[in-house]
Amino acid sequence: MRPPLFKLASFWCLLFLSCSVVTPVASQFKAVKNEEAKIANRSTSKKDGGYSNIPQTDGKTGGAKAQRFKFDQLIAATEDFKEDYFLGEGGFGKVYKGHLVDTGEIVAIKQLDPNGCQGVREFVVEVQTLSKADHANLVKLIGCCAEGDQRLLVYEYMSLGSLEDHLFDPWPNQKPLDWNIRMKIAAGAARGLEYLHDKMNPPIIYRDLKCSNILLGEEFHPKLSDFGLAKVGPSGDKTHVSTRVMGTYGYCAPDYAMTGQLTFKSDIYSFGVVLLEIITGRRAIDYTKSAAEQNLVSWARPLFKDRKKFYKMADPALDGHYPIRSLYQALAIAAMCVQEQPNMRPPIVDIVTALSYLASLKYDPEIEPPIRKSYKSQSPQKSINNEETW
Ligand SMILES: Nc1ncnc2c1ncn2[C@@H]1O[C@H](COP(=O)(O)OP(=O)(O)OP(=O)(O)O)[C@@H](O)[C@H]1O
Ligand SMILES: [Mg+2]
Repeated sequence: MRPPLFKLASFWCLLFLSCSVVTPVASQFKAVKNEEAKIANRSTSKKDGGYSNIPQTDGKTGGAKAQRFKFDQLIAATEDFKEDYFLGEGGFGKVYKGHLVDTGEIVAIKQLDPNGCQGVREFVVEVQTLSKADHANLVKLIGCCAEGDQRLLVYEYMSLGSLEDHLFDPWPNQKPLDWNIRMKIAAGAARGLEYLHDKMNPPIIYRDLKCSNILLGEEFHPKLSDFGLAKVGPSGDKTHVSTRVMGTYGYCAPDYAMTGQLTFKSDIYSFGVVLLEIITGRRAIDYTKSAAEQNLVSWARPLFKDRKKFYKMADPALDGHYPIRSLYQALAIAAMCVQEQPNMRPPIVDIVTALSYLASLKYDPEIEPPIRKSYKSQSPQKSINNEETW
């Protein structure tokens, strides 16, 4: 079967054209997440805490049902937010594992921190977006609670935590993600984004795609989470939505960061950064590295120009256990996504096609010998031959 990766031939042409100018992305922009959130919180109606904007009690808005919980129910579910149930913390507030007494369901409960950098607007947008959405690669919102100053969101519990935890912060003795799982996660995340861009009505720009927002369920099934920054995409002849710059430094497209013009291609850039993180095991921004390596995209751009250097980008934690052709192809996709020119970035549908194909190829480390050492010294049949045939 001829793979649907023929489209990647054109990816290659564009790739080498686009990589001729390397611009230090880090110096070009500063994505300010907190600033807009603070302004947004001030401007959101205080009368009802934004609750009137939330879909009605039955939550039947075309997507999942969002129940309204009483605060007492969530206190019971978490034994009063006991530290033992603490899962993590982000800009919105703390996240706890909970056990709903009525149904027995295990859930994740996110409690708004009134002093945090997000607020009522993110709470409302999150509920509105997820109430309309229904897809296997988007986290399900079970319900919410707004009582007094309390704002809480109740989600399905994702048993394997976030992709960020697995890539960068593994538990002791935890095995690194293997190549097959990495491709499965990348393809699933792409499908979630495709749903937002191409299947939802109106279409949605996610604006917060990053590893910590890709949650993993059983068998590493990935789901996108955190839609508090999501925006309805441009309508009619418009190509962009004008907005204050939001997102997370390192993932934010330079064109959006500089102009405030948000497009679907802003998400594609962020997706490219995530894909690079999945392949390389490096963080989008890592201040523990030398200046030249702190920004993942700036580090990767010169390497994209020379396919012979691609092996240098594979996560050392893979220990050489990856198929070289798939590595090239996955990197080609990532390179296309992080191009400076937004219109050169591929549409999500093409990314889904390419990554679904890569995820369907099951790499067997028992059969294929690992890719080792430097390019020159590695076995010729693993490097040069495969390079020519991909
Ligand atoms: N539905 C869930 N199931 C299981 N764990 C979850 C769930 N939602 C969040 N978590 C855990 O809580 C942590 C914090 O999540 P949260 O979304 O609040 O912050 P973040 O994504 O790390 O940062 P940011 O606020 O910038 O998005 C996650 O890294 C994850 O480990
Ligand atoms: Mg998150």
